[in-house]
Amino acid sequence: MNISVNETNTVKHILLVDDERPVLDGLRCRLRAMQRQWHVDCAESGPAAIERLSQRACDVLITDVRMPQMSGAQLLEVVRERWPHTIRIVLSGYCDARETSLIVPLAHQFLSKPCEPKVLESVIHRCLLLHDLLHDSQVRTLVGRIRSLPAVPRIYAKLQEMVKDDSVTASEVARVICTDSAIAAQILHIVNSAFFRLARRVTNIEQAVSYLGFNTVRNIAMSVEIFSKWPTAAVGPVDFEKLQLHAQQVSAAARSLTAKTPLADDATLAGLLHDIGYWVLAQESPTEFQSAVQLAAQNCIPLYEAETRIFGVSHAEIGAYLLGIWGLPYPVIEAVAHHHIPQRVASSDFDLLPALAVAHALTPGDAVAFNVDLPADSGADAAYLASVQPPFDWAEAQRRVAATLESYEASP
Ligand SMILES: [Fe+2]
Ligand SMILES: [Fe+2]
Repeated sequence: MNISVNETNTVKHILLVDDERPVLDGLRCRLRAMQRQWHVDCAESGPAAIERLSQRACDVLITDVRMPQMSGAQLLEVVRERWPHTIRIVLSGYCDARETSLIVPLAHQFLSKPCEPKVLESVIHRCLLLHDLLHDSQVRTLVGRIRSLPAVPRIYAKLQEMVKDDSVTASEVARVICTDSAIAAQILHIVNSAFFRLARRVTNIEQAVSYLGFNTVRNIAMSVEIFSKWPTAAVGPVDFEKLQLHAQQVSAAARSLTAKTPLADDATLAGLLHDIGYWVLAQESPTEFQSAVQLAAQNCIPLYEAETRIFGVSHAEIGAYLLGIWGLPYPVIEAVAHHHIPQRVASSDFDLLPALAVAHALTPGDAVAFNVDLPADSGADAAYLASVQPPFDWAEAQRRVAATLESYEASP
């Protein structure tokens, strides 16, 4: 299965920044095989990189962290401000806790030195594919400006309180993190970064918390650089408490459809994060987002359709793009991108996208979070489910989701 991307044939520009010339030469040499598709440029310092970017913007910037004159974090901050559509990757040796907390909100991906050429090539390639998913550079800019996603104040306060208490266990912390999509997404962004050098990507929050360790989670929860919180639970047109409940219900429903299969962790996570694009829209473009909600209500069309008329894409693609540049696994990104219209991805297997789309279709919609009447989401139906060779039929899917939602408690 593939995310429907708008592949372009234009040459992409990559800028490598490192104060050690041999490192730059080595990286450039490793990327030589891709030179027909990529133009690779080098800069030996932050100021030199800014000068290059002022002459010509790049699609992907890869920078070292420790450099004289200007640190990698300072350079990333300038690039975020002035060229937010550029994908920002850190390629670094050891980073201490302070550097890590400064870099996490500014970098999209983290690679550690020495980096295998294939890994470097594949990370750049995947980032560029995601760039093509959102072909509108204005929307890429909107996502690129994100430093952090605010948490619901009640849940943020609860997490802060918990990490101060030594008797709290990792699984209790994980349970609270699972009740806030923004906190969960950011924890996974950090755990999947090269700073923790894991052999595989983690999608289970409890595992993420135990990999990070209690002290790291405590530092993360207290870090103002990494977390911020909404001033209130309702922002612009969205009541985030109600939206959280929707995300948790979809997550539980997706888990019930994939229980005891290898898809279960990814499905639980995809459910929790599927509407994360709403956070981006509410934070970065609240006025236009409000107009989209009004347009949907006035014309009785689904909200994702109204968003597409206004932004060119919906919260689904925007959320998928953010999760992609944060390094979450591809099947999760694909499922999030297409959760409203799964039919646009040709598939004959019951995998993550069908599991999420069916769970979404059988769960109460998100309209309640917008305090307006919005039409029900048509999304996946019995015919769609039958087309992906599921291990159960529509009636069984309805039964499983209904049983899950009945016994489901929203509060941690
Ligand atoms: Fe959605
Ligand atoms: Fe949703």
